Amino acid sequence: MTDKPLRLGVNIDHVATVRNARGGGYPDPLRAARIAEAAGADGITAHLREDRRHISDRDIEGLAAALSVPLNFEMAATGEMQKIALRHKPHAVCIVPEKREERTTEGGLDVSREENRLAHFIAPLRDAGCRVSIFIAADRRQIEAAHRIGAQVIELHTGAYCDAHAEGRTDERERELDALREMAAFGASLGLEIHAGHGLTYDTVQPIAAFPEVRELNIGHFLIGEAIFRGLTPAIAEMRRLMDEARR
Ligand code: PXP
Repeated sequence: MTDKPLRLGVNIDHVATVRNARGGGYPDPLRAARIAEAAGADGITAHLREDRRHISDRDIEGLAAALSVPLNFEMAATGEMQKIALRHKPHAVCIVPEKREERTTEGGLDVSREENRLAHFIAPLRDAGCRVSIFIAADRRQIEAAHRIGAQVIELHTGAYCDAHAEGRTDERERELDALREMAAFGASLGLEIHAGHGLTYDTVQPIAAFPEVRELNIGHFLIGEAIFRGLTPAIAEMRRLMDEARR
């Protein structure tokens, strides 16, 4: 039981994936973002990838101009993305790995490998008023490095836990959950705000939502997929219900 609120950030990247399968403008990620806002999303997340495989520069412009909830801009640590972020000054930026060599084995950003560069990279983003988050594995060394470079937030990568759950590897699922629980507490003890995401579904969200230190979940692919079957508003409402239930 925790009285700290847990925010839901809805990631709309894969609305753009469907749109781009045909070219043109339908379905529009901005429309999805507006529906998500009305359905109770506390924020909208969008990842402008270097190859623009889903979200486009125009999508980011539209989201930055039109949203009434905070925009969480996911980006690689490149000069191009930094310029775009500084132009729009979103509420939050989340630095994610895009290339294999930027990743730790668990899939988060390898902060400790390039601490100095990342410290210089995020400083102007912080100075511009963006809340800087680092997408990171549940790994003490990486969390310490994220803290040292001046990130305000870490987003713990839940992908390995979700994969183990989906594939019925129960021992590994429990090990991943234990690591996430322990590292959420460790990160919070350093003064970092703790977020989590990647691969979360109705079946996997509750153990993560129950960690008292976790303040935000970012969920995309499952919600957009589920929207095909039940519509975006009910899909989000059910996720919100499960998060609230776990929090109690
Ligand atoms: N958090 C981060 C940092 C991500 O990069 C992603 C995937 O874009 C997510 C959360 C959401 O993951 P999913 O789409 O699997 O819910």
